Amino acid sequence: MVDFTLTDAQKALREMAHDFATKEIRPVAWEYDKEGTWPEDVLRKAWEVGLMNTHVPEEYGGPGASYLDGCIIQEELSWGCSGITTSLGANGLASGPLALGGSEALKKRYLGMLTEDFKLASFCLTEPDAGSDVSGMRTTAVRKGDKYVINGSKCFITNGGYADWFTVYAKTDKEAGHRGISCFLVPRDDTVTVDKKEDKMGQRASNTTTITFNETEIPADHLIGEENKGFKLAMMTLDRTRPGVAAMATGIARAAFEFATDYSKERVQFGVPIAMHQGIQFMIADMATKVHLSRLATWNSAVLLDQGARNTLESSHAKRFAADAAMEVTTDAVQVYGGYGFIKDYPVEKLMRDAKIMQLYEGTSQIQRLVIARETLLPRRVEAPAAAAVG
Ligand code: CAA
Repeated sequence: MVDFTLTDAQKALREMAHDFATKEIRPVAWEYDKEGTWPEDVLRKAWEVGLMNTHVPEEYGGPGASYLDGCIIQEELSWGCSGITTSLGANGLASGPLALGGSEALKKRYLGMLTEDFKLASFCLTEPDAGSDVSGMRTTAVRKGDKYVINGSKCFITNGGYADWFTVYAKTDKEAGHRGISCFLVPRDDTVTVDKKEDKMGQRASNTTTITFNETEIPADHLIGEENKGFKLAMMTLDRTRPGVAAMATGIARAAFEFATDYSKERVQFGVPIAMHQGIQFMIADMATKVHLSRLATWNSAVLLDQGARNTLESSHAKRFAADAAMEVTTDAVQVYGGYGFIKDYPVEKLMRDAKIMQLYEGTSQIQRLVIARETLLPRRVEAPAAAAVG
């Protein structure tokens, strides 16, 4: 039976996240955007009230929230500020491969670390010459006795400047393409350097850096899963985190839609509020539809995961549609504001800048279309993994 009714517990969760976004995120979001500083105080408060690490299973000290619960939270927080939410959610992405493929000892130690104290983790996949084409990565991991030695640079790393540990993808067989990539858990030490903090168009409150591993040694048991099976771990992780990105895009779109709706009722032109003009009404109507459909696609992709089913296709549908919709809705919100929409004193230009990254990170809109086309034309047979919570 298809039922989109939230349980009382989910409604309470949504209210709690909305309350946090209203009181702790919105009032500071435009200031953090302006300065491009990292909102550690907001992150710490979110950690204290239990809005970080909701993906961590109970046996490792977390609440073990479902994927749908995670999406409900992410939409609300992103309604407050998607830049702050990106930093808040980065532990989920970094934990993905660990939850899916890590040994019990690794999970106990490193997932436990996130819930015992305010700690951060980063997901290190992208490199300067390997973005959409993951298998083109150059970072290497070489086994030396009971250690691996890692060398290479990873870019666009969320929270890279502050992370206590990293999940790092590296070539263990340079000749084997995607079948030569492994995934490692790398604790931060002096050999890990932050080379660059990006000055970004949007989501300026999130910390985005280039990280270099210089002869970084880790114990051999910090390999996550099997050697040379890291590419699939990365893909399976992204299947699980893209619904969360779609939820964030829905939150941005909803915020822009609400601002534009309110403004259209106040702004008077030609003797009436502009909401009385059909040109504006149709824009508001399209925005409302896009927010609604983004949420439905997001929830659908998350519920499949909660049911233990594979969601590659639905995850890409949701991420692609919600990201593109957020870009369209925020652009239209600026249009509803007219010239004022272009001015930083008004809220919607930030949302338009923030929306852009939704079409870029965790797989561009073009990569989502590639996945959708492949899944549609040549459906892949991949076993559904155990429903480990990630994201
Ligand atoms: N689940 C399980 N296995 C999968 C899979 C999935 N969803 N997708 C692919 N695979 C498997 C395939 O079955 C295949 O297996 P075999 O080795 O047995 O043949 C293998 O993986 C290779 O698959 P493809 O041939 O499809 O691989 P490809 O090289 O053509 O790449 C791609 C596919 C979709 C383009 C992929 O590389 C991709 O998603 N690229 C985008 C990467 C991305 O999203 N980066 C974002 C980084 S994270 C970030 O942005 C966060 C931040 O902090 C800012």
